[in-house]
Amino acid sequence: MWYYFSNLTMYLIKSDTFRWLLQLRADTPRLLFSCYNSFMEEFTHYTVMKNEAVDALECKSGKIYVDCTLGGGGHSGLILSRIQPDGKLIAFDVDEDAIKAASERLKDYNNLTIVKNSYTNIKKVLHELGIQKITGGVLFDLGASYHQFHKGERGFSFSKEAPLDMRFNQDADFSAYDVVNTYSEQDLVRIFSEYGEERFSKRIAKKIVEQRNVKKLETTTELADLIVNCTPHVKSSIHPATRVFQAIRIEVNQELTNVKNTLNDVLDLLDFGAIISVISFHSLEDRLVKHLFKYHSQRCHCDKSQMICHCPPPILELVNKKPITAGDEEIKINPPSRSAKLRIARCIRH
Ligand SMILES: C[S@@+](CC[C@H](N)C(=O)[O-])C[C@H]1O[C@@H](n2cnc3c(N)ncnc32)[C@H](O)[C@@H]1O
Repeated sequence: MWYYFSNLTMYLIKSDTFRWLLQLRADTPRLLFSCYNSFMEEFTHYTVMKNEAVDALECKSGKIYVDCTLGGGGHSGLILSRIQPDGKLIAFDVDEDAIKAASERLKDYNNLTIVKNSYTNIKKVLHELGIQKITGGVLFDLGASYHQFHKGERGFSFSKEAPLDMRFNQDADFSAYDVVNTYSEQDLVRIFSEYGEERFSKRIAKKIVEQRNVKKLETTTELADLIVNCTPHVKSSIHPATRVFQAIRIEVNQELTNVKNTLNDVLDLLDFGAIISVISFHSLEDRLVKHLFKYHSQRCHCDKSQMICHCPPPILELVNKKPITAGDEEIKINPPSRSAKLRIARCIRH
């Protein structure tokens, strides 16, 4: 009996089925997450630093909160669960898929207002809703969602053939096609270098212009192949088209300009004690947030030659001097979270 039992055990340990079961166990959280999301109208998004970003807001009932980047509603859901019964959440997104998925996911909350509009219009929208001040806090989780990257036809990914698109807002009339086929060679070089930190910007821009003079570039894979063919084959874990695709996405959606313009508007809207919490994924974006927070938390901006300081009191107090980053466990489940940086500040202006 013991002989059969130990033979059976050895067989199982060596078998592919056993290895598959072990693998299945390791992947369980991810698999469960994907199943849940395919159920949720196929909208998948791994919410980055969910607890850290929402803890920072010190959620309370009776206060007003704004989620500027609703996405799949991961952060919004947690905020809502913490502001019952009398808190209010206003959530913005421009993406129809995100609005649909989050509306379904959060349908049981009646103190949520979802706005299909750009966060750049936050002042106007809050005014129309009769809100003068954000009394609790505001959250930005910048960049694209997992859904946008992985839904092939949205054209964000070089690994799936699709029209060159990359618009967060499907109603916008400017897409990646326009950038690739109408920008001057110098402008292409500028955005590839600035937003993508692409070493071969000049070479790629030149090739794009040569190619589109023969035939316009229409699809993600045409552009990705062009980049692969005109850049040296270097051993790297990232695809040669990654940086150019990122740069085009930032340009199409005016991501940096939007953040820059909106953060100042948000400071005007924050009530005394309210929190601003920003997650960014790109060094240029993080630099914008860092400088703005630093500038508005400094007591004095005078140059040294000035005898008397007339600077107004600071607006912000930094909650964390160094940005918070995702933990090892989170990075294991969702590798892109490794580039996320969370900065938090509190409004100290009466
Ligand atoms: C990283 S995702 C947010 C994910 C969300 N925090 C969650 O947990 O599910 C960023 C979202 O911001 C949206 N977005 C980007 N620019 C925007 C803008 N100017 N106004 C409103 N939403 C914007 C994108 O469409 C995307 O859905």
